[in-house]
Amino acid sequence: MCTQEFFQAQRSQLVGQLALRSLENFESILDYLLSWEVLTWEDYESVSLPGQPLSTLARRLLDIIWNKSGQSCELLFAAVKKAEETEEQTEPPRLWSQDVASPAQDLQRHRPVIVRKIYGHVEGILDLLLERGFITKYECDEIRLPIFTSSQRARRLLDFAKVKENGVAQFLLQHVHQLPVLPAPFPDATACQKYRAKLKATVSAQSRFLSTYDGTENLYLEDIYTENILEVRKGGGGGGAPGQKGCDTVELPDIFSDSGCVNEHADTVLLVGEAGSGKSTLLQQLHRLWATGRLFHRFLFVFPFSCRQLQYVDKPVSVKTLLFEQCCWPDEGQQEVFQYLLDHPDRVLITFDGFDEFKFKFTDRETHCSPTDPTSVQNLLFNLLRGNLMKNAKKVLTSRPHAITPFLRKYVRKELGLKGFSQEGIELFMRRHHSEPGLADRIVRLLKATSALHGLCHVPVFSWIVSRCHKELLQRGCGSLKTTTDMYLLILRHFVMHASPGAAAWGPGIPFLRPWLPTILRLGRLALWGLGTCSYVFSAKQLWASGVEEEDLSLGFLVRSKSFSQESSASLEFLHITLQCFFAAFYLLLGADVSASALRRLFHHHKKPSRSLARRFPVSCLQAPEPEEAEEASVSGLLQKAEPHNVQITAAFLAGLLSREHRGLVTQCQGASSPLPQKQTLVRRCLALALRRHFQSIPPAVPGEGKSMHAMPEFVWLIRSLYEMQDERLAREAVSKLGVGHLKVTYCNIGPAECAALAFVLKNLQQPVALQLDYNAVGDVGVEQLLPCLPVCHALYLRDNNISDLGICRLVDQALQCEQFQKLALFNNKLTDDCTHSLASLLKYKQNFLSLRLGNNHITAVGAKVLAEGLKGNDSLQCLGLWGNKVGDEGARALASALHDHPSLKWLSLVGNNIGSLGAQALALMLEKNVSLEELCLEENHLQDEDMCALVCGLKKNSSLKILKLSNNSITLQGVSALLQVLEGNATIKSVWLRGNIFTPEEIEQLSLMDARLLL
Ligand SMILES: Nc1ncnc2c1ncn2[C@@H]1O[C@H](COP(=O)(O)OP(=O)(O)OP(=O)(O)O)[C@@H](O)[C@H]1O
Ligand SMILES: [Mg+2]
Repeated sequence: MCTQEFFQAQRSQLVGQLALRSLENFESILDYLLSWEVLTWEDYESVSLPGQPLSTLARRLLDIIWNKSGQSCELLFAAVKKAEETEEQTEPPRLWSQDVASPAQDLQRHRPVIVRKIYGHVEGILDLLLERGFITKYECDEIRLPIFTSSQRARRLLDFAKVKENGVAQFLLQHVHQLPVLPAPFPDATACQKYRAKLKATVSAQSRFLSTYDGTENLYLEDIYTENILEVRKGGGGGGAPGQKGCDTVELPDIFSDSGCVNEHADTVLLVGEAGSGKSTLLQQLHRLWATGRLFHRFLFVFPFSCRQLQYVDKPVSVKTLLFEQCCWPDEGQQEVFQYLLDHPDRVLITFDGFDEFKFKFTDRETHCSPTDPTSVQNLLFNLLRGNLMKNAKKVLTSRPHAITPFLRKYVRKELGLKGFSQEGIELFMRRHHSEPGLADRIVRLLKATSALHGLCHVPVFSWIVSRCHKELLQRGCGSLKTTTDMYLLILRHFVMHASPGAAAWGPGIPFLRPWLPTILRLGRLALWGLGTCSYVFSAKQLWASGVEEEDLSLGFLVRSKSFSQESSASLEFLHITLQCFFAAFYLLLGADVSASALRRLFHHHKKPSRSLARRFPVSCLQAPEPEEAEEASVSGLLQKAEPHNVQITAAFLAGLLSREHRGLVTQCQGASSPLPQKQTLVRRCLALALRRHFQSIPPAVPGEGKSMHAMPEFVWLIRSLYEMQDERLAREAVSKLGVGHLKVTYCNIGPAECAALAFVLKNLQQPVALQLDYNAVGDVGVEQLLPCLPVCHALYLRDNNISDLGICRLVDQALQCEQFQKLALFNNKLTDDCTHSLASLLKYKQNFLSLRLGNNHITAVGAKVLAEGLKGNDSLQCLGLWGNKVGDEGARALASALHDHPSLKWLSLVGNNIGSLGAQALALMLEKNVSLEELCLEENHLQDEDMCALVCGLKKNSSLKILKLSNNSITLQGVSALLQVLEGNATIKSVWLRGNIFTPEEIEQLSLMDARLLL
């Protein structure tokens, strides 16, 4: 028997169930409820308001039903079930008996069946009604709105008939009775099935191979796909409550789950990652899993698009032409198939890869709702993302971070960040690429021995480079490989060797590049022109126009562009956009017509590029301007118009090519009158100037606090460019006068490579700094990279950085040698008891150490005991944070006993640590003896009144504690009464937090009046 109570208990589940399904499903439930007279017409109108989020309507419906009888609740469950059956139902609907006395009533009573019967005939019926004068043209248009599905139009028609008292209901009833019964819910299911099969086959073929960049082999994606760390961002920018995690990792199959949803009304899942972090590969894997029937079964249709390709669609497109002409053409029943897609948007997934390569900036200025009317490709894309088109169809958009504006984020359902491979991931990747016995082991050993290279390998594209160039690496060792430029030169060498196998072995001093210089410059010219016109795909004509020759292609850096479109002709692209930037950098450095002054633009690129050049220029590859034409716009013009992020990558490569390490190589290639020395001087000067400007823009210190700086996005890039240049003197000069006490680089995608660059520059600081790197992807390898700058850090904040015991043990080893190092924050990492010995030695041997925060890790009683031993030998620590670990009673006892006579600890947090009576008693005893502790945080444990009484006993003899936090325990009025007695005679205590314990509202009021220090 379904009672109202049971209904209420099921409420959140029901809301989820109703809101997660389609609007179609919800309306079908309403049909049943109307027909059974559970809902009145007023009720129905209040839950069928167009434009309202489904979840709001669902909640409203449940409120209405709840206020009715228990039987209504039962009927709601029945309607949900019926609607489900109806979705699967394939047999023709039953006929109904007709009651001519009250046609409007009759329409309502048989509503579910009538909707089923007329949904395929609404157009014809409307024409008929118009002809007979039952309806006006305007009313017809209202019902016909393209945003409605066929069944929704049928319902709007019935709603219209219900309220119009002009005989239309009677007419409709008679007419409907004569209509032929539709054979199946969807007019031509076979066409849909055939289309689905064709789409699957297409997507399966497209996603099967990961074509390797040198074009020599095709790898099965299945064989080499390696898990990539995927994090879901909770809200923007770390504004969460203290202690709340910034990110959670998720697995690919769960990317559409509701966890991490920031806007339940939006359909778009945003996948953000730096260049080469594996976004396209992850999407390809998603497509493959769907096409091979392994996952994502909820989608009947998946349409993959690449933004790079889409922007070349130069004619107006509708949803229909987009899906059919740009992705997969239905060989029969186009109309039926399209109608099915419109009627079942929740079964459709559309993916757009590489939004950063889309030359049009996101805007929500122009609204376009008609799925059949054509519009510009960008307007179509933006309206799809906004949900004006194909509402409820899921969309996945991938992009590098710089292209995502707050504007676009408004329409994002959830945001995922790709963090690259874990350490195990790198190993797995190498093993998947090299099955020869022992080879993968040798590569992995080599990597582990070279932490700078290991750090780079967290970015999948670098793992790929290492994997491809393993021969060269194993041959010469990789000790000298530090920078990204080193890596790209390595791959260049690899390709050169590959293209000229007969050439002499290379080595230091052998001018391996010179024979290929003309090729490199031709590719570089094309690359630069492409960046400047936001063109990443090149037609044969464009290649020819920039002088690219057959032998240049044989080098293997230009590969056939992948395209899902049936229209686009064969075209080529650089195998990765970062390689396009790399070649552009070569050209900027060695191109005969590039003056030194043109390079200034690389470092003064503040303006967003005007998209006008791109708009005036190629909409289709073949109509694009020739490179010579674009050259007239001059090199600095191209740099000005290129995407700023690509300019930054190019600038970093240029700096790298000018490093001492590579100067010899570049000099071998320069022409007689090349302005190389001028270029070098200019780049040095520009970099130093840009950094100085950056530092000068930091606001002065707040009185009483050290000068603090929050890194701007440009900061990380400048630091990376400096690192690429490997110019110690420049690094020294850049920061020598920087008087900042706190450097904050949070949420900046700092991985191991960025850590190496930061350390390279920051180690030259004259004054100690607090370095805050919270919410990045530092990892153990990044920690290792940071070590050189530890001597100038007095504090290091590494919250939420995927660090394990290994990384911390290395850090502590180094920290023991660093006199100034005093604070370490490691909230939300992967620490276990295994690192506590190391941390204990930090406490024991570093007698000026002040603060250790270890919240939300995996430390148990075992680790707490080890830490307690460290504490016994320590007399400097002021803060110890263990929030969200599992130290339990035993751990609390060990820590408490170590603190009896600790002279300095002021703040101890044991929030959420499964502490009960035994722990509380030990802490009470500690309070009796301890004379330094000022704040004790015990929220979210299992403390009861008797534990409160114990703590009260401790407090009686305590004279230092100012704040006692006991929120979210199981304390009642009785426990607080005991506390009140001790508070009377204790003026030191400033507040006792008691929210979330067991009090009635009256008790709360009464207690607040008794002592204002109780926070209830
Ligand atoms: N999950 C993975 N498993 C195996 N290899 C991968 C994976 N992800 C990326 N790679 C390798 O790294 C290369 C670069 O990845 P991908 O092209 O997907 O990066 P991206 O994030 O799309 O870069 P961009 O921002 O430039 O578009 C791939 O060609 C592949 O060799
Ligand atoms: Mg990509």
